[in-house]
Amino acid sequence: MDVETAIRTRRTHKAYEPDPVPREVVEELLELARWAPNHHLTQPWRFRVIGPETLKHLVAAGKEGEEQKLGRAPTLIVASARQSGDAHQDAEDVQATCCAVYAVLLGAHARGLASYWRTPKVLQTLAGRAAVGLEDDEQFVGLIHLGRPVGDPAPKPREPAEAYTEFLA
Ligand SMILES: Cc1cc2nc3c(=O)[nH]c(=O)nc-3n(C[C@H](O)[C@H](O)[C@H](O)COP(=O)(O)O)c2cc1C
Repeated sequence: MDVETAIRTRRTHKAYEPDPVPREVVEELLELARWAPNHHLTQPWRFRVIGPETLKHLVAAGKEGEEQKLGRAPTLIVASARQSGDAHQDAEDVQATCCAVYAVLLGAHARGLASYWRTPKVLQTLAGRAAVGLEDDEQFVGLIHLGRPVGDPAPKPREPAEAYTEFLA
């Protein structure tokens, strides 16, 4: 799949087959992350692939109904950005981590996998962060859902490029 097709046709999926993504495929996808653009090559991204025990702890940290939501995809990966305390660097490191997450989503899509970038509230709580081992110096960026797709979500309407593009004098 060429890169433009991948960008245009990737969709957020909320329904998945139950079988987890094989570890070697997860490793391939996370290897893509290291090629993300990154000022000063701080390589701030961290990815934690959630196992069954950790999922239990995360569910326990969440509110009622969390189990159902967290159980939608068979493979879940917590993406975070290490923070240094310097506001400018920290913003750039979150931005670089977003690029890295997008590389993972596009790589998954190119392999016929479904994905979903979710930012559940539970991972913004102390209990949720502790459940997945996020350190104090890490900014949570996303809970990546991966798996084989069920269905084919239609793209949501988007404004045309002219609406957000300006060519300055
Ligand atoms: C930073 C970020 C956080 C997101 N968090 C959520 C979320 O918590 N829940 C959700 O339903 N979608 C979430 N999404 C996915 C968007 O809703 C989705 O990308 C958007 O609806 C466009 O659909 P598409 O991905 O199929 O193009 C998030 C996307 C990004 C980039």
